[in-house]
Amino acid sequence: MQRRYLYIMDPINSINPRTDTTFYFMLESQSRGIENLFCTIEDLINCDGKGFASVEHIQVSMPTNEGEAHFHLGKKETVAFDDCDVIFMRKDPPVDERFLAACMLLDCHNSHNTIVFNNPKGLRIANEKLWGLHVAAQYMPKTVVSSNLQVLIEASQHLGRVVLKPLFGSGGGGILVMEKDDRNLRSALELLTGNGKKPIMLQQYLPGARQGDKRLILLGGKPIGALLRVPGADDHRANLHVGGEAQKSQITSTDEEIAKHLAPQLLALGLHFVGLDIIDGKITEINVTSPTCLQEIDRLENRQGKDKLNVQVLDYIDQLLLRMP
Ligand SMILES: Nc1ncnc2c1ncn2[C@@H]1O[C@H](COP(=O)(O)OP(=O)(O)O)[C@@H](O)[C@H]1O
Ligand SMILES: [Mg+2]
Repeated sequence: MQRRYLYIMDPINSINPRTDTTFYFMLESQSRGIENLFCTIEDLINCDGKGFASVEHIQVSMPTNEGEAHFHLGKKETVAFDDCDVIFMRKDPPVDERFLAACMLLDCHNSHNTIVFNNPKGLRIANEKLWGLHVAAQYMPKTVVSSNLQVLIEASQHLGRVVLKPLFGSGGGGILVMEKDDRNLRSALELLTGNGKKPIMLQQYLPGARQGDKRLILLGGKPIGALLRVPGADDHRANLHVGGEAQKSQITSTDEEIAKHLAPQLLALGLHFVGLDIIDGKITEINVTSPTCLQEIDRLENRQGKDKLNVQVLDYIDQLLLRMP
């Protein structure tokens, strides 16, 4: 029978087909003759304990000219999660009430029939900023998490130059680099913690951030590609969303070591496809919700055929499906 893959993502008309990783997966699954279905998190349903989604059939194509459509929507229907072979949970952060509710709705699938990629339980557990502290603290820079202003101020006095991060931020949002004697420090901490009510992360500033923030792509816990994001001269942040430039990178022995350490923990939570952020050989973030950069890596390295990262991901999923009872 023809396979069916459901892609849960942000509205398809809002994505950039030349950079979006979910779209890149869709292109590959379509080329394999798989039936692609599309929906957003608002389309998930639970009825008497059974999970469903209101979906649209979708055809995708990489536009060759400016303004050309990258998708075409077809028939609408309601499908049971259990009638899909694979469900890609690819909603972009923030991980907020809506995101968490979607993960909880996705829990109602029969894991003997259907793979949810990444697993919704894993997505709930592995906060992208915090989880590394539980499973790989030795590979992280010095880090303190607290909502207490005094604790944070003392930590910054000790560390000198620090990065402040909201725990549920993404794409560089809310990231601040501060010196210990900056007169804005206390006020910045008040803003980010909501006057001492919300924990934030305060992290040692890694000087290698000027050279770039490496994105290391892990598939099944193994590194399959890397890319360096280099910040602009006028910004501390390297995220591509805020003007960081994508450059070619390599997978180093440190990257291999970090991946080897994380692999069992990732696989135990069904976190098959993950993007590590690495600066100066240290993990600064473990992206599990909707990691990206695959198209950029393939283009920079001129990858073809089986080397292409979307091909590798879809091949990996084939292996997972073969192993199902
Ligand atoms: N410890 C650090 N030292 C220096 N720069 C950092 C550090 N952590 C993050 N950054 C900078 O901030 C950017 C965003 O940080 P990150 O933790 O990846 O959060 P997110 O990408 O979710 O916003 C990084 O791309 C990097 O440029
Ligand atoms: Mg990041």
